[in-house]
Amino acid sequence: MKKSDIWIPYINLSKQFSEEKKSLLPKIEKVLSSGKYILSDEVKKFESKICNYQNMKFCISVNSGTDALILSLLSLNVKSGDEVITQANSYIASAAAIKAVGAKPVFCDVYDDQTMNVEDMESKINFRTKVIMPVHLTGRMCEMNKIMKIAKKNNLKVVEDCAQSIGSTYSGKKSGSFGDLGAFSTHPLKNLNACGDGGFIVTNNKKISDYLKLKRNHGHISREKIKLFGTVSRLDSIQAVILNFRLKKLEKVIKKRVKNASIYKETLKDLDIYYPKDRSNCRDSYHLFVVQLKNRNNLKKFLFKNKIESNVHYPIPIHKQKLFTDQSQALHNTEKQANEILSLPINQYLNENDINKVCYFIKKFLQIN
Ligand SMILES: Cc1ncc(COP(=O)(O)O)c(C=O)c1O
Repeated sequence: MKKSDIWIPYINLSKQFSEEKKSLLPKIEKVLSSGKYILSDEVKKFESKICNYQNMKFCISVNSGTDALILSLLSLNVKSGDEVITQANSYIASAAAIKAVGAKPVFCDVYDDQTMNVEDMESKINFRTKVIMPVHLTGRMCEMNKIMKIAKKNNLKVVEDCAQSIGSTYSGKKSGSFGDLGAFSTHPLKNLNACGDGGFIVTNNKKISDYLKLKRNHGHISREKIKLFGTVSRLDSIQAVILNFRLKKLEKVIKKRVKNASIYKETLKDLDIYYPKDRSNCRDSYHLFVVQLKNRNNLKKFLFKNKIESNVHYPIPIHKQKLFTDQSQALHNTEKQANEILSLPINQYLNENDINKVCYFIKKFLQIN
């Protein structure tokens, strides 16, 4: 099936660009003609706007969500011999970042709603554990009050993987504002998206922020002088101008996704299909709307036959990737969900009719199966 034959696309970046083109292109042109492409005022403006949005003291923009995680771990001096507890139902970057600094990812299971199983996480803490890394997958925040309490009790640091959770809240606070650091991605598929790779870190710790600002830029304290051995991980000015433009629309984007999710929840509520229930103290930003059902693969095929795209995030849990030689670890919910999860289209360009159409075909599928 050609892309143009799809009725309901999972994501619609071309539509996003065609709507923004008239206002956005002159801004990009202005950056291009300024000749200031690296660590420019546009980048500083982005960092300052994010501090405002997040209600955090410091924002350090970097060139991907993966780098945001790696640099966050480095800033806490996580190294070989250390363990970081995280989830295996995430994108590979969460574990890869831990490996990249030489530490060992230790996986805990998740609850039915895909958030970190706090009791299982606590049972995996030992003398090597240095950091807890909850992943706010799909834009649904983990139980941060409990996680922070356990971290404090055990003298552990917390790095929140917020790649999918910009704008999500828990007890009135934004994702990324609970732990020592929050690491975000602005990959094109995220709710706040650049037109290429990008990311940022937020923290309230000045020492960490100062370190990260040096680390992302080869340790330069001046053009000539280097204070530490660093790397190159800078958000460029073109991505920054796009993100500054799109940040203004982020709340609208999230509200539309929340609305689309509410139509799914209302229409699917009496069917034999699971989706996470609302929690009164949280706002899920619905980067993804994930349902769980036994014959997920057949529903995916059925929807596609009816010109509706859906996706699986992610079909192989990280601990089951061949790279992990110890395949004996059992994570019951994580493994079960990998076979049953399906992300339905929820992007902000879909309207009520589109979502109702998806629900119509889901009902039809359940009737004949
Ligand atoms: C949960 C999670 N963590 C980390 C990342 C890495 O972000 P990036 O692709 O910007 O490196 C992603 C990206 O999809 C993600 O979904």
